[in-house]
Amino acid sequence: MAKSIEVTSNSTIYMGSVEVLLPQLLPNRRTIVISDSNIDRTHHNLINSYEHILIGQGEQAKSLTTLEEVYRRLIEMGADRTTFILGIGGGIVTDIAGFIASTYMRGLEFGFVTTTLLGAVDASVGGKNGVNVGGFKNMVGTFSQPKFVICDVALLHSLPEREFRAGLAEVIKTAILGDSELFEILEHTSCKELRKNDNLLEEIILRSMKVKASVVAEDEREGGRRRVLNLGHTLAHAIEKCSHDYSHGEAVAIGLHRITLSALEQKTISESEGKRILSLIEKYGFKTAISTERKLLLRAIEGDKKRKGNSIHIILPTHIGEVEDREVRLSNIGDIFKTI
Ligand SMILES: NC(=O)c1ccc[n+]([C@@H]2O[C@H](COP(=O)([O-])OP(=O)(O)OC[C@H]3O[C@@H](n4cnc5c(N)ncnc54)[C@H](O)[C@@H]3O)[C@@H](O)[C@H]2O)c1
Repeated sequence: MAKSIEVTSNSTIYMGSVEVLLPQLLPNRRTIVISDSNIDRTHHNLINSYEHILIGQGEQAKSLTTLEEVYRRLIEMGADRTTFILGIGGGIVTDIAGFIASTYMRGLEFGFVTTTLLGAVDASVGGKNGVNVGGFKNMVGTFSQPKFVICDVALLHSLPEREFRAGLAEVIKTAILGDSELFEILEHTSCKELRKNDNLLEEIILRSMKVKASVVAEDEREGGRRRVLNLGHTLAHAIEKCSHDYSHGEAVAIGLHRITLSALEQKTISESEGKRILSLIEKYGFKTAISTERKLLLRAIEGDKKRKGNSIHIILPTHIGEVEDREVRLSNIGDIFKTI
């Protein structure tokens, strides 16, 4: 039996074989797959079983231009309100597919098959979708839950090491903010071991999904509690805005590193726990140097879509497994990010 987690009353995550689960979960209607050309290469049989639209890769593809191309293709293909949209891919594909499905003809039902570790533990879960505008991340989007998310760890075997490690940054984030046992598991394993051991990989993915699902269930539209998921992300988004050298996961690892240094400096976390976090980030091989000038990063943080007027919420680790949500005035943001 597949393991499952209910995120909301109309959205469930399933862990298990995609060949077994998809026929059970897809409605008996026309399905159009949205995916990217890489995934079409690595998992051609899966994509080719359906009518499909392939998008480009990378953050540049998460754009209004891509949306327009996909809407046009759907119109050409005669997609109507009964069409089911299936996003098969990583975070870029699921962010686009979710947005397309929730807006085309005022909304179609949709589901995801997640094919990256980052997608499995974060991007595919929780109902946020959207695209970047003017270099700012996820500026336009909706909250709209997929009917289902399927995670089959066998699909992750073809992931390049860089992408696999990037996903581990979100697993580390989740452990810091809500699961101290997951943190300990990560301390006692390695990237190499996780790539070889599907049972252990499934366990860390399920644990991460459970933390995210429980936060989302409490606060679906980010009115409060959901902000904790933003741990490390304020700086990560600024890094992504200013440089194309880092993937999202790599930027998150730097964000986690710097916010832990800030927490040590602000004394919200003890020396010993703060050092354990810094050691874990290092152990998983993340580079923590930033190539962008401090003033540019601070300016990008000031433009973050999550700011509210003259302030922004910053999430600081307080213990392994616990965080604090602090509202900081934008004029004081440099004091929090002294180490960038
Ligand atoms: N909606 C959310 O709540 C949420 C949360 C976290 C991140 N995100 C977004 O997710 C995006 C990053 O997602 P990502 O890291 O999955 O990146 P991605 O979708 O770009 O995938 C990374 C690369 O791996 C390739 N790939 C995907 N699956 C593969 C497989 N099984 N084998 C081989 N190659 C494969 C892709 O083609 C791509 O080149 C960012 O835009 C980020 O903002 C969204």
